[in-house]
Amino acid sequence: MKVLIVGGGGREHAIAMSVKKSSKVTKLYCAPGNAGIAQIAECAPIGVMEFDKLVAFAKEKEIDLTIVGPDDPLAAGAVDAFEEAGLRVFGPRKNAAILEGSKAFSKDLMKKYGIPTAAYENFDDPEKALAYLETASFPIVLKADGLALGKGVLICQTKEEAIEGVKSIMQDKKFGSAGNRMVIEEFMTGREVSVLSFVDGKTIRIMSSAQDHKRAGDGDTGLNTGGMGTFSPSPFYTKEIDEICQKEIFQKTVDAMRSEGREFKGIIFFGLMLTKDGPKVLEYNARFGDPEAQVVLPRMKNDIIDVVDACIDGTLDQIDVEFEDNAAVCVVLASDGYPVSYQKGYPITGFEAFDGKDDYFCFHAGTSEKDGQIVTNGGRVLGITALGDTLKEARKKAYEATEWISFENKYMRHDIGKAIDQA
Ligand code: AMP
Ligand code: GLY
Repeated sequence: MKVLIVGGGGREHAIAMSVKKSSKVTKLYCAPGNAGIAQIAECAPIGVMEFDKLVAFAKEKEIDLTIVGPDDPLAAGAVDAFEEAGLRVFGPRKNAAILEGSKAFSKDLMKKYGIPTAAYENFDDPEKALAYLETASFPIVLKADGLALGKGVLICQTKEEAIEGVKSIMQDKKFGSAGNRMVIEEFMTGREVSVLSFVDGKTIRIMSSAQDHKRAGDGDTGLNTGGMGTFSPSPFYTKEIDEICQKEIFQKTVDAMRSEGREFKGIIFFGLMLTKDGPKVLEYNARFGDPEAQVVLPRMKNDIIDVVDACIDGTLDQIDVEFEDNAAVCVVLASDGYPVSYQKGYPITGFEAFDGKDDYFCFHAGTSEKDGQIVTNGGRVLGITALGDTLKEARKKAYEATEWISFENKYMRHDIGKAIDQA
């Protein structure tokens, strides 16, 4: 079977590695891919939003299955475009990807179906949002409604900060049209956990839990990023918490989407906060997390194609999704200056140290090939993942492996997985 993966980041490299392991797959393509993906797949220089070209490519190459990785094409209807052309594709349709594409939609859904989340109000008029702040309590959280590269969330300590925030989102359009509407919500405290799941429209099978590190600097300082590192499983996601989530959050979300006529097939990523009042949903994503995929997928026992097929065919109830009883840590190697401004084009060396080691992975996020050499081509450059029997062992190995790689302006956090010491 021939498979096409749409995307070109670390997440897609992790998906590609999983797909490559399947005995069913004879040929793997990726669009646009990156320099690392190019080592295991044939990459085509087509952008993720170029649906016509992607569909034409899939037809020309007689692709049997396409997997769409990133949020933007999903929210814009990539899956619909493939289906309309009679092609088999994995991911939510546009009317279901709205679960991530509109925070106002997802908040209203949770309220309507009694899924625990922070108290909130939606606004499409900046004056009303500003008036609301007069009687609100602080800190408070402002969220641009639409997709904003994971950056559309502002946590405001004071009324003054919040007023500036509303103006920057709704009037100055700091996040573009994502800020035409916004959500203002209660500030919650607690530990964050990411739980990814496979969904076939009716049945949900969760994957092993993970925790991301969103801020750029050590000790959770600095700006929010796409994610600077992850570990899996999260020791804080206990059996008791899982039972509550199964009952109050996971199946309820899938059923809610069906009831709304927006059957969800694909990946639902639950961003959870474990508050003192129980787990609550911070956000939904309609795709694998990046870099959550880089710690979860290397631990999955199943052939990913079997699970994806079951999601598309609505037979997920017949499959158990299973994970190794081990742990993984991923440390992102970024370009210094990310997420604001950074240089690209620096040569990267040291990849050969990963050769022949099946408990170490060097996932490419922002890389390209120039004159036969692999160079940096993004803010997040590589994701270095190691497996271990325990989280501590995996962390030690991942940090050792970060030393194998060299490039100018290499930057990383030094405390990925530090929280596990408190578990
Ligand atoms: P989101 O993109 O919605 O996950 O938000 C990005 C980050 O902002 C989350 O990972 C949290 O760290 C933080 N955040 C979002 N909503 C809240 C909230 N209601 N209370 C506290 N922190 C929040
Ligand atoms: N790592 C968080 C995300 O993929 O949204």
